[in-house]
Amino acid sequence: MAILVLSHPLPSAPFVAALQALAPDLPVWTEADTPPPDAVEVLLAWRLTAGVVPRYPKLRVVCSTGAGVDKLLAVPDLPAGLPVTRVVDPQQARTIAQYVVAQTLHATRDFARYEAQQARAEWRRHPVRPAAQCRVGLLGQGEVAQAIARAIVPLGLPLALWGRHLRPLPGLEHADVTRYTGEAGLPALLASSDVLVNTLPLTEATRGLLDRARLAQLPAGAWLVNVGRGEHLVEDDLRGLLDSGHLAGAALDVFAREPLPRDHWLWGHPSVRATPHIAGEARFEVVAAACLDALQRCRAGQAPQWLVNRNAGY
Ligand code: GLV
Repeated sequence: MAILVLSHPLPSAPFVAALQALAPDLPVWTEADTPPPDAVEVLLAWRLTAGVVPRYPKLRVVCSTGAGVDKLLAVPDLPAGLPVTRVVDPQQARTIAQYVVAQTLHATRDFARYEAQQARAEWRRHPVRPAAQCRVGLLGQGEVAQAIARAIVPLGLPLALWGRHLRPLPGLEHADVTRYTGEAGLPALLASSDVLVNTLPLTEATRGLLDRARLAQLPAGAWLVNVGRGEHLVEDDLRGLLDSGHLAGAALDVFAREPLPRDHWLWGHPSVRATPHIAGEARFEVVAAACLDALQRCRAGQAPQWLVNRNAGY
């Protein structure tokens, strides 16, 4: 009985090595193998395609290689009762927070303007933007959003968070953070975000959330930082708002199509900073440990620790 690693497009070798380091006797296969169907108890996967899950009748659990599970839950033939798990490595959350801090400071400290000036060898100083014009609005309240919030607060930038329901923010109980919730709270968050940071999970409720109508509610000159999923953003709506100058820029780490096609307009747009989904990555050993823990618990008839609420989608 064993684990099948389907980590494509990430290489499977580091996941296999991490699993074998922790459980040397457990067979581990990859997409290059053809394991006996009855032997597969766990799929450790980033995405699934139709037809894969039904191949393994003894499957106990599907574990995500990443924090987001949208590409697993999207598959139409996932049996209703099959547990799906994900793990948010605290180090992954911290590196995403670093990415967001870097992009946020790029925006609020006007670095794009100074880069343009440098290209013209132009020495011209502009006033530092007051904090009141550097308001950061975070969409999401999960582990990643919490790590970002903990990184932003010490910078002295006004911070607000939005989520469907109010969730606790560990470590920020005494911080001056504005909270908005529900449909009714979203316009207020958008209207007060000079830098809007998206960390939401991709679900049917959040797909296409960042469309023309919502992006237009951001203050003039705002930036968008997307570390959630590409499908949250209607990319062509963003283009209109960048071209009209309503939005000053967008820092995008995730895209509706990944890899982003070479001829996509986002690569070349002067107001877009595009990176290839590198904001943060879970450590292989953390993913492997969570996967083995899920297997043990499922074998013992217990619920896995990092169980995804399949109705909520995260
Ligand atoms: C990255 O996007 C992840 O879901 O871990």
